[in-house]
Amino acid sequence: MSSDGPVYIITGGAGFIGSSLVATLQRDEPDAQLYVIDDFSTGSYANIVEACDRLRAGVFRGIVMADPVGELNLQPAIMGMKPKAVFHLAAITDTLVTDERKMISVNSEPFEEIVDACLESDVPLVYASSAAVYGSPDTRSAFTEDLGGRPNNVYGFSKWLMDVTAQRAIDEAGDGAHVVGLRYFNVFGPGEARKGRMASMVYHLTQQMLRGERPRLFEHGHHERDQVFVDDIVSGTIAASKRGAESGIYNLGSGKATSFNDIAQAVNTGLGTSLEVEYIPMPDEMVSTYQHFTQADLTNTTRALSWEPGHDPMESMVSYARMLAEAGRRVTTN
Ligand SMILES: NC(=O)c1ccc[n+]([C@@H]2O[C@H](COP(=O)([O-])OP(=O)(O)OC[C@H]3O[C@@H](n4cnc5c(N)ncnc54)[C@H](O)[C@@H]3O)[C@@H](O)[C@H]2O)c1
Repeated sequence: MSSDGPVYIITGGAGFIGSSLVATLQRDEPDAQLYVIDDFSTGSYANIVEACDRLRAGVFRGIVMADPVGELNLQPAIMGMKPKAVFHLAAITDTLVTDERKMISVNSEPFEEIVDACLESDVPLVYASSAAVYGSPDTRSAFTEDLGGRPNNVYGFSKWLMDVTAQRAIDEAGDGAHVVGLRYFNVFGPGEARKGRMASMVYHLTQQMLRGERPRLFEHGHHERDQVFVDDIVSGTIAASKRGAESGIYNLGSGKATSFNDIAQAVNTGLGTSLEVEYIPMPDEMVSTYQHFTQADLTNTTRALSWEPGHDPMESMVSYARMLAEAGRRVTTN
């Protein structure tokens, strides 16, 4: 790491998406000085090591601060170091957490200070919002950003509060702002294993099927979600930090809705199996809050960020399932 290369601050950089972001930044800008802030509540340094290997970024040469974002005073660091960009991904990512006080105090509250510091120092800020801010709108068409604001879980509340803060800052700062919120849809890909039960459906179905079990889906597998490969999320996140990207809050997904039956089919193809789906009823208490359908409308995203997804979700699921099988075989033979 050279001492005069561009500085990047990445919160949540030891997590699933953050580690691939960190590795991509280091690969593409080898002289960059990377500061990862992560409290390791769900992340691991091993994610960074593995992402650097996978993306051929060399050994990680950045700095890691193992503190919760809310306990750090980030303002002087941002104002003093003048990073080329701040990427804020740190969050409680367990969507089943129901403690609103905890979720909001970790995810939403520290955000205001980060926004203020970036605006005052003229530093581009990109943060991770989520498709959870949409809740379950009554539509089977791609979600446009204006549909946000009816989240139906505590995690979604916390992300919506961040969007409100960001939008207010953008409106107040006008042309002077570079603040981009990205509503990630269902992300899958290498680096998610340590998320445990919060890893993607593609990951969990692959593990079930690798054990020879039939894939289990809620009746009758017709739910559809926008599944997006992690490398597309990373390229979109970096695009949002570039000069020329327009401030605002945008969807980041594949733009395609994939049915759960199709996910099981992709995994079967990847593993070379033909395991039949076993359908199970959805518990009554889940029906009203479950996202039965999600799809990102990417019209604003492609215009404002000059970015578009580079991976077809079905093809990526096939190769990802194959990759997970290969990794499992390596573990068993070693
Ligand atoms: N994976 C998805 O499908 C998805 C979808 C929508 C939004 N997102 C958002 O993307 C971001 C990254 O998610 P991920 O899937 O990589 O999950 P992750 O849990 O792997 O990553 C989150 C990282 O933040 C760290 N962290 C948590 N609280 C922290 C705190 N207070 N201070 C510092 N570090 C903290 C964790 O240790 C972890 O490394 C999150 O903001 C998440 O809400 C993810």
